Amino acid sequence: MQQFDLTIRHGLVASDEAVYEADVGIIGDKIVAVERGLPAGRRDIDATGHYVLPGGIDTHCHVEQRSGMGVMGADDWYSASVAAAHGGTTMIVPFAAQHRGHSLKQAAEEYTALATAKSVIDWSYHLIVSETDSKTLNEDLVEQIRRGITSFKVYMTYEALKIDDYQMLDVLALAARERALVMVHAENNDVIRWVSQKLLESGSTAPKFHGTSHVALAEGEATHRVIQLARLFDAPVLIVHVSAPDALATIGAAQRMGAQVYGETCPHYLLLTEDAMDLPGVEGAKYCCSPPLRDAGSQEALWTALNDGVLQTVSSDHAPYRFDETGKLPYGDATTFKQAANGMPGLEARLPLMFSEGVNKGRMTLPEFVALTATNHARMYGIAPRKGLIQAGADADIAIWDPKHEVTLTASALHDRVGYTPYEGMTVTGWPRIVVSAGRVIVEDGKFAARAGSGRFVPRSTPLPFQNERPVSARGQFFRSLAIGEAREGHTSFGYSDRQN
Ligand code: URP
Ligand code: ZN
Ligand code: ZN
Repeated sequence: MQQFDLTIRHGLVASDEAVYEADVGIIGDKIVAVERGLPAGRRDIDATGHYVLPGGIDTHCHVEQRSGMGVMGADDWYSASVAAAHGGTTMIVPFAAQHRGHSLKQAAEEYTALATAKSVIDWSYHLIVSETDSKTLNEDLVEQIRRGITSFKVYMTYEALKIDDYQMLDVLALAARERALVMVHAENNDVIRWVSQKLLESGSTAPKFHGTSHVALAEGEATHRVIQLARLFDAPVLIVHVSAPDALATIGAAQRMGAQVYGETCPHYLLLTEDAMDLPGVEGAKYCCSPPLRDAGSQEALWTALNDGVLQTVSSDHAPYRFDETGKLPYGDATTFKQAANGMPGLEARLPLMFSEGVNKGRMTLPEFVALTATNHARMYGIAPRKGLIQAGADADIAIWDPKHEVTLTASALHDRVGYTPYEGMTVTGWPRIVVSAGRVIVEDGKFAARAGSGRFVPRSTPLPFQNERPVSARGQFFRSLAIGEAREGHTSFGYSDRQN
């Protein structure tokens, strides 16, 4: 047997299905053996008392990207990827955003250049599509999908990015045809706009009114609407950052009818409540994100949805806006809830939070944790089997996890450039002692060693919903063919259930 470059021995390996004793042998950037009793490699890591976990994959984070409100985040590809690595995440998939009037192709090329130069861990990106002209959809987007960017996000709110229902239909039809996964930010823009306007007119400007204006019904309505639009084509959709029972109920009902609907949530919806927005002055702006934080009942519903499989992924939705005039407070203390940048940081703390609050508190098993933070991301977004599991042939992306290590989360201890953490002062139990990225030890006992640009672009294959594709219903076939001008005579009236049609 060839000598391993690196071995991780005497630990407990975890997958999305099981936890078992095994040693891991690595040659170059690949795992080549996972079994008991492997001989020591050139470097041998003793993982006694540790879990050997697939490195986290974060498929929803905003890095070096201008937001829907026009604000540039504080993290670039270097700082974001360094922060991710410190928390055990070994691949990030942020967003190359097309802003109105700009070319999707150019957005993708510019973003690729930034990531190539700076990322310290492997990466891909989704696109944000804000225009639906023929060049954007039929040329640029198709070209991107062919080069391995097999998912993109669309917004139903944020004036600068949102697309309307007609555009959504064009997008969904194209995604169904090209086998790309559509991620949807689902909130009803006019409800938010109307409530916000009335609140501002009545002088209600404090951060807590962000929550009032992004009422859960607005999320529920938009979630229902986009699912119905997607069902026209049997197009899979993934609803990102689900925060409320209204949306969860809609997603669950659609899944039971056989629709290919998937969902994601984030640690802040599971662990924080709307009370955080009601701090004195503008302090609550730190906790304004969209959809907003909800209540304790919503948290419980989200935890249950993770256990029941209604939601498939937990992502950070890292949105690195500083608590100053560059981000949260463009008008200082006079900033209204409508002007504060939306989102909060969370790349580095995602895995530790989910382990400590999820696994340690008995809300999820370790295999569920692995699925929700790594394996499901890899499968849903076409990165499996290269990543997301510890198995022979996969990339050697591994977090050697000390389940007893306690860390108190503070802005100064974390590695992003945001300057605050929503979890300031909270102690988590469980932290990665060593992080291996493509066979390289890049974090060891808090010390970091990787150069900017050493992460690699990972072209993604077909997302899971298309791999397990059920036969497309008569309804889906008809509307897919209508989208390309080829609707045939015959079946023109369709029933309700996705399974029967
Ligand atoms: O408030 C949030 N989530 N900001 C980030 C942008 C987005 O819509 O995901
Ligand atoms: Zn969003
Ligand atoms: Zn986001």
